[in-house]
Amino acid sequence: MDQLIELKGITKTYPVTTGETGVFKRLFGARKRLFALEGINLSVKPGEILAVLGESGSGKSTLGRIMARLETPDEGHYTLRGQRQSGRAQGRKDRWEFGSQVQMIFQDPFGSLNPVHSIGYHVQRALALHGPSEQQAADLLDAVGLRPGSSFVRKFPFELSGGQRQRVAIARALAVRPALLIADEPTSMLDVSIRMDILNLLKGLRETHNLAILLITHDLPSAFYLSDRMAVMYAGQVVECGRSEDILEKPSHPYTQLLLRVAHERIATRPGKTDEEGMLAAQLRETSSCLFASRCPKVAQSCLEAGPALTRMGQREVRCHFPS
Ligand SMILES: Nc1ncnc2c1ncn2[C@@H]1O[C@H](COP(=O)(O)OP(=O)(O)OP(=O)(O)O)[C@@H](O)[C@H]1O
Ligand SMILES: [Mg+2]
Repeated sequence: MDQLIELKGITKTYPVTTGETGVFKRLFGARKRLFALEGINLSVKPGEILAVLGESGSGKSTLGRIMARLETPDEGHYTLRGQRQSGRAQGRKDRWEFGSQVQMIFQDPFGSLNPVHSIGYHVQRALALHGPSEQQAADLLDAVGLRPGSSFVRKFPFELSGGQRQRVAIARALAVRPALLIADEPTSMLDVSIRMDILNLLKGLRETHNLAILLITHDLPSAFYLSDRMAVMYAGQVVECGRSEDILEKPSHPYTQLLLRVAHERIATRPGKTDEEGMLAAQLRETSSCLFASRCPKVAQSCLEAGPALTRMGQREVRCHFPS
């Protein structure tokens, strides 16, 4: 099947200042580049759900923002239905055309809705270029489970629960009938009890609208529940990518194994020993070792000598000298 979106060799760095603290930082700190993403090759097919998984700082949101063309990568290219895209969407026409294909929703469903406007306004505004009507807005609200939609149109964001607000954000994104929805941690600010409802809503929309979804999450169970494929990221690199079922059954990369163990044991902490310095050194690429070496239980001499490349193993890609 043809790809909806393809990213090839996407790298994104940010300037950072390290070394000094406080007022001295700007004057005497060393200016370096932090790799938020490095050499990312990923694709999404129409109607496919790809989960992007990894701990804080691994580059997930940067990837989402680049896919939504909210940021320009330093290197690499991006195609949407085979058409090459420039970096950040510029100008109204470009933004509108692109936005009618790719929409993004965020973690905080309150921050993304304007408190002074009604729910109907938010959804109708997104519909505006397709001829706004209250009925259409109500239908969309119905479709995301706010029923009857007509009773929600005149409400204001503060009258809704977090889960309901996230449904409004999803309705608004759907108004333009996009082919891809990028959902950046859509359930992480919601009560556990309603997380599943939102995941089920997204799953249903894939069926009814053939919507492709990029699900950004650090929650492995949500990723497995929803996605067809998953990409596990560490310090800006993809370390394992493949079919979710296969990865769940047999994780190959030690980092994926760690994530899985944490999920099984329901430990609410960061997996493995924390190593902020090691992480920063990895993000700054100040090491020629495998970036995961400082936390890897299987680390060997060869891992310290050179970082492994992402290598295809059957249906899967793994970045490890000693994959399981
Ligand atoms: N505008 C920016 N300027 C400088 N550094 C940035 C910027 N945006 C992101 N970064 C850095 O890039 C790295 C990746 O950030 P990103 O937000 O993509 O991570 P993430 O995986 O989404 O993390 P989280 O789970 O905390 O949301 C982080 O170390 C972050 O500090
Ligand atoms: Mg993020």
